[in-house]
Amino acid sequence: MSLENPQRYTVTAALIYANGPIHIGHLAGCYLPADVYVRYLRATGKDVAFISGTDEHGVPITIKAKKEGVTPQEVVDKYYTQIKKSFEDFGISFDIYSRTSKPKHHEVSQQIFKKLYDDGNFVEEISEQYFDETAGQFLADRYIVGVCPVCGNENAYGDQCERCGSTLSPTELKEPLRSMLSGAKPVLKPTKNWYLPLDRMQPGIQQFIDGHPEWKTNVAGQCRSWLQEGLRPRAMTRDLEWGVKVPLPDTEGKVLYVWFDAPIGYITFTQEWAEEQGRDWELYWKDRDTKLVHFIGKDNIVFHCIIFPAMLMAEGTYILPDNVPANEFMNLEGDKISTSRNWAVWLHEYLEEMPGKEDVLRYVLAANAPETKDSEFTWKDFQGRNNSELVGVFGNFVNRAMVLTQKFCGGHVPTCTDLTDVDRQVLDELALFPERIGGAIENYRFREALGHLMDLARLGNKYLAETEPWKVVKTDENRAHTILNIALQITTNLAIVCEPFLPFTAAKMRDMLNFDAIGLNETGWINAGRPDILATGHQLGEPALLFEKLEDEVINKQIQKLHDAKKMNELATKAVPEAKPEITYDDFAKMDIRIGTILEAERVPKSDKLLKLKVDDGHGQRQILSGIAKHFAPEDLIGKQVTFLANLAPRKMMGLESQGMILMAEDRDGSLALLPPHKPVWNGGTVS
Ligand code: MF3
Ligand code: ZN
Repeated sequence: MSLENPQRYTVTAALIYANGPIHIGHLAGCYLPADVYVRYLRATGKDVAFISGTDEHGVPITIKAKKEGVTPQEVVDKYYTQIKKSFEDFGISFDIYSRTSKPKHHEVSQQIFKKLYDDGNFVEEISEQYFDETAGQFLADRYIVGVCPVCGNENAYGDQCERCGSTLSPTELKEPLRSMLSGAKPVLKPTKNWYLPLDRMQPGIQQFIDGHPEWKTNVAGQCRSWLQEGLRPRAMTRDLEWGVKVPLPDTEGKVLYVWFDAPIGYITFTQEWAEEQGRDWELYWKDRDTKLVHFIGKDNIVFHCIIFPAMLMAEGTYILPDNVPANEFMNLEGDKISTSRNWAVWLHEYLEEMPGKEDVLRYVLAANAPETKDSEFTWKDFQGRNNSELVGVFGNFVNRAMVLTQKFCGGHVPTCTDLTDVDRQVLDELALFPERIGGAIENYRFREALGHLMDLARLGNKYLAETEPWKVVKTDENRAHTILNIALQITTNLAIVCEPFLPFTAAKMRDMLNFDAIGLNETGWINAGRPDILATGHQLGEPALLFEKLEDEVINKQIQKLHDAKKMNELATKAVPEAKPEITYDDFAKMDIRIGTILEAERVPKSDKLLKLKVDDGHGQRQILSGIAKHFAPEDLIGKQVTFLANLAPRKMMGLESQGMILMAEDRDGSLALLPPHKPVWNGGTVS
C-alpha cells in the first residue's frame, strides 16, 4: 500500500457508562491495548480514526442518580469530565471522546432506528411488563426487588441476585415483589415494543462469524455458544424515561434500548470528528476497504459480535467489524475488581500518588494484560517490574548509552568505523525487531510485543557488557566511538518502537536524542531497524533519567490503602444485625443481670483471647473469664463498673472456671464497649 493511499482503520473503544470513575481493569482490558494498536498504526502511516466516549443512557445511570439524589444528567456530566481527563492523563490518544447525551447522537440513533423501521426490520410485539402504579411507570428489571429463587435472598434484583450471583429475570423472582421506586407491588401491564428478530437473522450472522476464523478464541467461543443456543428476538425499545426517544408516534415514555443507541455512538462521534476535520465520515464506515476494529471487555462480546453487526446488516450500507479483540478481566491482589466493594486502583488517584509514572502503569498493565485469560495486578509485581525491567533493563541501557556519549564524545554522535563480527551481529538482530514488535501488535498480541521490546533493550545491555567501551576508550578511541555509535542507534530505535506502549518515555527520549533536529517524530516507524538513523556529529540533548526505583515503603502504602478503602466501604455499607425472634417476659426474667466492679484483670496464659477477671458482685468476689483480650488492656479495666449476667451456668475454659458473663456492646467496626451504669450504683445492683 503506498503512502498516498494508506490503509484506513476505524478503531473504537467501548463507550463506558458515565456512572463512576475508571480503574486499572478498564485500562488493561480495553483502552490501553486500543491505544497501543492505534499508536502503532499511526506510526506506520495508516489513516486512523480512534473513536470513543461515554455511554450516558441506560438503567445503570438512572440507578446511580437515584442513589445520589441528583438527575441522570448531573451524573453523566460529572463522570464524563472525570473519565475524559483520566484517559488524557494516561495518554489514551482518542481522535474524539464524545458522549451519547448530545443532541446529534439522538438524531443519528433515531435516523438509523427509523430506517430499520421503515424497511420493515422490526417485529412489533405486545408483552406484559411490570408496572409501578404509584410511580406511574414501567420498571426496568433492576428496579424490581423480590426473593431470589436460588438462595432465598429477600433483596434480589429483577436481573441479578447480588448475594448468590444468579442471573435472573423479573418473572423468576418470588413474592413479595416490590418496586424500588415506590415500594409498591408491581403489576403486569401490556406494552408494545419493537424487536430485532435475531432468530430470523441467525443465518446471516452465522455466516459473518464463520467468515472470521482468525478471531481470538475467547471471542469466537462466546459467539459460538450464543449461536448454538439459538438467537432470540431482542427488544430495541424500552419503557423508560431516560434515553433516546423512540421516533414513532404514540411512544410517550419509551426510549431506544441502550444497547441500540450506544454502539451507534461510534458512528455519531466519527461524524462529529470528521466534520471538525473536514473529512468524509462515510469513508470510515461504508468503504469496503476500511477495517473496523472494536476494542472491548469480555462482557460486551455479544453486543459487538452479534447484535450491533445485525443492526448494521439490516441497515445495509455499513461495513461490519473486521475484528473484535476482546479481553478478559484483570483481578487485583487476589480478588475481583469491584466498584461496589471499593476494591480497585482508580486512575485519578494513582496519578496523584505516583505523579509522572503514567508509563510505569501502562507498562505493567500491558505486561499483565488479560489477553487470553483473566490476569492479576499486584503492587509487588508492579514494583518488581518497575525496578528490574524498566529501571534495570530499559532505563539502564538508555542511560549508559547517553551518559557515555556525553562523557567521551561531548554529546555528539561519534564516528562509526570498522565493524567487528559482534557489531554486525547486533545490527542484524536490531533490524529484525520492528517487524517482530509490529507483527505482534497487528495480531493483537500486545504482551508478546512488549516482550520483544524489552528484548531489544536487553540486546543493547548485552552489547555494552560485551564490548565495554568505557575500558576500550583508554586504548582505542576509534573502537570506543564505533561502539557508542551503535549503542546510540539502538537507543534511537528503542525510542521509535517503544512509543505505542510508552508514549511519555518516547517523548523524553526524542528530546534526549534531539529528534527535532533531524525531523523525526512519533510517526517514524518507517526508519526503525536502520543502523544509521543518527548521523555522525548529530548533537544530542541532555540525558534524563527515564525511570526510578520504587521503594518498599511506597508500595506497602498502596497495599495498605487498598485494604483501608475496602474496610471503610464495608463499614459504610454494614447493616444493623437482623432482629432475633420474639421472647416472652418470662424468658427475659430468667436472666439475673447485675452491676459489679472489676477488681483484678490479667491475661490467661497461652490464650490470646481470654482475660481472667475478679469481679466484686456485692456478696464477694467471683471469677469471670471474658474473650476480650484483643480489645482491652487488662490494666485499663481495673476499677471499672460493668454489667454482667450472674446466673449463667459455670463453664470451664483453659482449665479455669468462669462464673458469669460480662455484657458488651459491639460497635459497627467490631470494637467492643463495656456497659457501666450511667451513675455509679452499688455492686450487686440488679438490672431489669
Ligand atoms: N456502556 C457499556 C459498558 O460499560 C459499553 C457500551 S459499548 C457500546 O459495558 F458499543 F455500546 F458503545
Ligand atoms: Zn440468590
